[in-house]
Amino acid sequence: MPTTFGAVPATLPPFFTYQNGQLMVEGLALSALAQRHGTPLFVYSKAAILAALGAYQRGLAGRAHQICYAMKANSTLAILQTLVRAGCGLDIVSGGELERALAAGVEPSKVIFSGVGKTRAEMRRALDVGIGCFNVESRAELDVLDEVAKSMSLRAPVSVRVNPNVDAKTHPYISTGLKGNKFGIAHEDVVATYRHAASCAGLRVVGIDCHIGSQITQADPYLDAMDRILDLVQAIEAAGVPIAHIDFGGGLGIDYNGDTPPEADELWLRLLRKLDTRGYGDRKIFIEPGRSLVGNAGVCVTEVLYLKPGEQKHFLIVDAAMNDLPRPAMYQAFHQIVPLAPRTGPTAVWDVVGPVCESGDWLGRDRALAVQAGDLLAVMSAGAYCMSMASNYNTRGRAAELLVDGETATLIRARESATDQLRFESLLP
Ligand code: LLP
Repeated sequence: MPTTFGAVPATLPPFFTYQNGQLMVEGLALSALAQRHGTPLFVYSKAAILAALGAYQRGLAGRAHQICYAMKANSTLAILQTLVRAGCGLDIVSGGELERALAAGVEPSKVIFSGVGKTRAEMRRALDVGIGCFNVESRAELDVLDEVAKSMSLRAPVSVRVNPNVDAKTHPYISTGLKGNKFGIAHEDVVATYRHAASCAGLRVVGIDCHIGSQITQADPYLDAMDRILDLVQAIEAAGVPIAHIDFGGGLGIDYNGDTPPEADELWLRLLRKLDTRGYGDRKIFIEPGRSLVGNAGVCVTEVLYLKPGEQKHFLIVDAAMNDLPRPAMYQAFHQIVPLAPRTGPTAVWDVVGPVCESGDWLGRDRALAVQAGDLLAVMSAGAYCMSMASNYNTRGRAAELLVDGETATLIRARESATDQLRFESLLP
């Protein structure tokens, strides 16, 4: 069992600091929050969310633009409300997300609807409330939307999602801009699709859209995608269809483990330079960032239940699991795991695992930690694609969530009880 001394916490995201041996979020000690609200517990920093948004706002300042937060990353109402109040629109992918978006107070015209499988009912509801744009992903979807809009005597605002065939250089499950994946319309079919859309009485072409993947940590894929999109804009407009807005999607990565994605403002400085050079600086820019707005603004606090040293592996069994934090199980994703109150003394190397009955239920592997049962740990960078992907597997209730603003913590989602989970089920007569 390799042993070192003194657990030194790794570098932390902004607004998370150690003070007097305690991990703090803004002005509050996470351990006090965990004692009050129990674990597993998601805690978000409002300042971190607004700072992440600020980088995009700086980068796009002075341009006609709309930032549509991709709410799939974290769709808890108060998180949406925070971003909406700060000026964001929302990128939705389902009727359920539309209802959440409306409940959070978004202006419907700032909502864009992405996704490959919109149903007629979802289209109808979105048209009814007057969303800003449908990002259409196939010719068949275009025709259905045309039909639905005509039946309501409306014209649906549309962008076609283009597959620019660039390699986002990220995990294959979250790379979406390459040929051979289900998203978008192939480059070579785009102009014909726009000609067709422009001829449909139920459609009104407003823009073009692309999204090449997620957790992108380099600028090049964006610059390549922009070139390809602008080539298409040129061809589409030459075919007589004007394009008012260009939507570059989301995908900017965050630092999980020493990753060094470009800052949003620096990235946009470069992208805008290209846009201007190519003569499209007058177009309204839409973006759909998700992870980069909320990912590093949240942590999941979990309690160590048992230490289980073994011959080959030592297991640290904690009370959070793959149903709360599915990213390690699904993508072998790395999240830093740090103690709320670091102990001095020997560390051992642990696999941090949850109580779910699956070998895939792990949160971190080979982590050097000095811990005892009852200690609290924070799984870092848990603001995006954790709570929104959480499930009730093993009939585990979903965790509670807090939003911290300075020295105030607000419970934004109560812990789900077993009663909550049984509510929609019935026994046979
Ligand atoms: N727009 C579209 C059309 C998308 O499909 C996505 C994410 C986004 C925007 C936002 O991308 P972001 O800025 O968050 O990278 N569950 C995975 C990530 C799935 C991303 C799906 N699409 C994970 O935990 O890594």
